[in-house]
Amino acid sequence: MTAVSPRPSPSITQTKVDRRVFSDEEVYKQEMKILFQDGWTFVGLEAEIPNPGDFRRSWMGELPVIMSRARDGSVKVVENACSHRGALVALESKGNCSTFTCIYHQWVYGADGKLLGVPLRKNYTDGQHKDRGGLRAARVETFAGLVWATFGEVEPLIGYLAEAAPHLDAVLRGGEVEILGYHRYEVQGNWKLFFENTQDAYHASLLHNFSQALGIYTVGDNLVFENGHGAIKWDMVSLTDEIMERHLADKAFKMKDYKLFQSATQPGPGGFNRVMGVFPNALVLEEWDMLNVRHIVPKGVDRAELHTVALGLKGDSAEIRAKRARDYGNFFGPAGFAGRDDVVAVKAVQATEGVTSIDTSFMALGDLDAKSGDLEGEYTVRGFYGNYRERMGF
Ligand code: FES
Ligand SMILES: [Fe+2]
Repeated sequence: MTAVSPRPSPSITQTKVDRRVFSDEEVYKQEMKILFQDGWTFVGLEAEIPNPGDFRRSWMGELPVIMSRARDGSVKVVENACSHRGALVALESKGNCSTFTCIYHQWVYGADGKLLGVPLRKNYTDGQHKDRGGLRAARVETFAGLVWATFGEVEPLIGYLAEAAPHLDAVLRGGEVEILGYHRYEVQGNWKLFFENTQDAYHASLLHNFSQALGIYTVGDNLVFENGHGAIKWDMVSLTDEIMERHLADKAFKMKDYKLFQSATQPGPGGFNRVMGVFPNALVLEEWDMLNVRHIVPKGVDRAELHTVALGLKGDSAEIRAKRARDYGNFFGPAGFAGRDDVVAVKAVQATEGVTSIDTSFMALGDLDAKSGDLEGEYTVRGFYGNYRERMGF
């Protein structure tokens, strides 16, 4: 019998990514551990848990966690798995409570995961239940209202966010945001394809053909930051009624509500539209009056969920709040102008993986000697995969 030689790791070069990283179960398992547990992972927004006792279910990769606000105001993230038999402790997506009680045999935990109560504990010989401990607690840090967690030995969050930090602070106005609502939908593709899509300036005026036709996707930059983060940003063009009427008269478009391309608020510092990808799973966007944070939650190697929080700013008038929410739904919602296109494109990429001759993904557009460049390049996509390769050791 001949020995089976170990399979080579997927090869990732500056311009080509082995597409097995979108379908290989072993790679996927390693990602869940190396990227989503051992590294900093985005879990939610502080604005989701403003008061002591507030909690929200979340995920670090596929690992279920509970993000909550402790009595002292600090944010805690613990594994959502009971130390008795492993049942999910929080079953509801959000709520407020002073302790967490597992429904099965009612072991009770504090927000920090500490085991506080065990029914019939006297019947455990030698207090064996104590060895089971509480809910595994992650290290937590926050920046600009974004909550990040890790189970690994990593540098402070601010160092990890690197040059992405000032952009996050600008878009999220230091965290002074309010939640307008949620969308959650499934993407039939590997989690990286959605991250990559959001950092892919190349498709923006082509797949989303309305943006080029309306002239709203203009000059801008493709910024690559340390640690796989990036941003695409472009000058915001606020369309006038006159321009829109002209387009509508040409019958090139039918849009009932084109006000979403007319900004009624002040953009964050810099005054441009900005789409940021924060490695590995957070997308932070400001376009016209729309502000949102998207959490990519992997659900198997070929499937992910996109949990989006639509945001407004504290102090917004009722009118602005309503505009932001409506614009968000029209543009980013599952049936919105941009949302729908991207989901179809990601699904189309995943559909050919492993069954066609296209075994690498190609990303060579732009100046390969430059780290960042203008919008007409795949700099940020290369930045993401460059960091991915390093972290995964490929
Ligand atoms: S599984 Fe949670 S108390 Fe038994
Ligand atoms: Fe897109």
